[in-house]
Amino acid sequence: MRKPIIIGNWKMNNGPEKAHLFYHDLEKLMLNKEVDIDWAIAAPIISMPSLMMQTEDGLYIPLAAQNVNENDSGAFTGEVSISMLQEYGTEYVIIGHSERREMFNETNSSVNAKVKAIIKSFTSEDDYIIPVVAFGETEEQFNANKTALVVKKQLNECLKGLDADDVKEIVIAYEPIWAIGTGKTATPEQAQKICKLSRDIIAEMFGKETADEIRIQYGGSMKPENINELMKQPDIDGGLVGGASLEPESFFKLITFNK
Ligand code: PGA
Repeated sequence: MRKPIIIGNWKMNNGPEKAHLFYHDLEKLMLNKEVDIDWAIAAPIISMPSLMMQTEDGLYIPLAAQNVNENDSGAFTGEVSISMLQEYGTEYVIIGHSERREMFNETNSSVNAKVKAIIKSFTSEDDYIIPVVAFGETEEQFNANKTALVVKKQLNECLKGLDADDVKEIVIAYEPIWAIGTGKTATPEQAQKICKLSRDIIAEMFGKETADEIRIQYGGSMKPENINELMKQPDIDGGLVGGASLEPESFFKLITFNK
């Protein structure tokens, strides 16, 4: 059984003060509530300390990062390394988000280099950071019926040269670009179709066992109102959520979906 995984992607929103308020509000909402899925928040790096446990028995928020540099250290102004994220106890890192591809020149090959570097950095379970590899087609490609081709190329190139056993542990996130931040969600059937296709591509590349184990998220205007229908789809194992993850009430509804 694949465990559902919901990750809030704050993008460049919620600075340290807002994150601090979010922490305490979420803590109140979570009081005496069991959340039996995997979840995390990908906050801006500078807001991460505000989400860390504030008291000894305070709420533990699993942390994700929105990007990482594949080099260990050195002259890379503005970048953050894998070991720096590990020091923070970061559990996940989003790689190849469409905004990074469109605005910061990330390519399938840079995504591949980052995923390889993250996997290489695993030395013990304590510093295990799970890459969340994002992919998906533009509106133009969708309208031209090119989704399947685009997705295949992205997965082939982003995951090239990896071991089947490592691929089982990573998360991939199908995010049609036309659905991101637009309020236009893919229908559960559309999202399921491409998540299933993605699983078939993983099977072709790494075998059925890996394809059965890898978790596939959907992203693109996921919110409390549509999460249940999306999560009912057999190949959708979670969500990468932007706008609807910014406020504690809405985020709480997402991680307690279907309850
Ligand atoms: P959205 O963003 O939920 O605001 O559409 C999703 C994402 O970009 O990961």
